[in-house]
Amino acid sequence: MAQVNKQITLAARPSGMPKPSDFKLVESSVPEAKAGEILVRVLYVSVDPYMRGRMNDVKSYAPPAQIGEVMGAGAVGQVVNSQSAQFETGDFVEGFFGWQEYAISDGKGVRKLDPSLGSLSTALGVLGMPGLTAYFGLLDIGKPQRGETVVISGAAGAVGSIAGQIAKINGCRVVGIAGSDQKIAWLRDELSFDAAFNYKTTPDYYAKLEELCPNGVDVYFDNVGGTITDAVFRLINIGARIVVCGQIAQYNDEKPETGPRLLWRLVVKQARAEGFLVFQFAPRYAEGLKQMAAWLKAGKLKYREQFVDGIENTPRAFIGMLQGENTGKQLVRVAKE
Ligand SMILES: NC(=O)c1ccc[n+]([C@@H]2O[C@H](COP(=O)([O-])OP(=O)(O)OC[C@H]3O[C@@H](n4cnc5c(N)ncnc54)[C@H](OP(=O)(O)O)[C@@H]3O)[C@@H](O)[C@H]2O)c1
Repeated sequence: MAQVNKQITLAARPSGMPKPSDFKLVESSVPEAKAGEILVRVLYVSVDPYMRGRMNDVKSYAPPAQIGEVMGAGAVGQVVNSQSAQFETGDFVEGFFGWQEYAISDGKGVRKLDPSLGSLSTALGVLGMPGLTAYFGLLDIGKPQRGETVVISGAAGAVGSIAGQIAKINGCRVVGIAGSDQKIAWLRDELSFDAAFNYKTTPDYYAKLEELCPNGVDVYFDNVGGTITDAVFRLINIGARIVVCGQIAQYNDEKPETGPRLLWRLVVKQARAEGFLVFQFAPRYAEGLKQMAAWLKAGKLKYREQFVDGIENTPRAFIGMLQGENTGKQLVRVAKE
């Protein structure tokens, strides 16, 4: 076993888009598992948009990361020493192990993985937090009905690409919005979205959406906010459901953005906009994972993963994801399985 544990810590609080110098690669010795603990050799770490919020010194639904602390993150690994009755050495596990090569855990919040359900890395994507976000956000908050029009922003990312496919499985017309022509081709040609457009090359979002949604919008799964959301709001139908999943267009803003005030549309259309956190559905994760694994097996759900190699490249992968370099789920491969 390597004696060195490479870790990525928060070095500085970013202003605007994070920079590589906001992070620091540090080395410490591999810790030892005490009674009740496991030592995990990390194989994959996740980079997620919520981490940008935790880099600010602001309390949100979770406390902020502290300077000098290892960046918190979901990760998949293998137990290399178990002093816990719950786990055996050799078990594959998913947990909040952070951006590091080795982690100690007391087992709380750690899930044993069944490699027969999907490759290990899917526990951080389609069969993990992003997949569950798509599943519960779309089905429980969005309540799509057969024949309805569902618009997804951030459609080619980890959450959006799954949410759109679940809407298709439920018989909806699905329109995706994403930031490159390659992403649009993937949504239309491989994921069977009915229509999609590149917001970076489309001058008038409203006109484009009006063309692609001739019957208006019944469900809007919003990952981004900002001007894309302003355009969708103008097209909602009576009784529409707006699923407020994320607002990534604002995560790097130094000053709050102001825009048109569109809540009146909710009044006129007797519509509902509802935010949610995937964690509120924790008691039902098993249900979501079972259904998603069945759809994967049946070929009804497709997913894409993008890998960067080496823990030292995690900040680059994170910044790249914030800038739209990923199609599907962005991961870092820390060690070979
Ligand atoms: N509510 C919850 O519990 C929950 C849980 C997980 C995630 N989320 C939210 O869900 C959203 C998607 O997360 P994810 O993990 O699936 O990430 P992701 O979509 O895989 O990656 C982020 C994507 O956001 C897009 N983006 C970046 N800046 C943008 C901007 N200014 N305007 C429009 N799009 C922009 C980029 O794609 P483009 O090339 O298309 O720009 C980028 O690829 C995020 O808002 C996240 O915070 C919420």
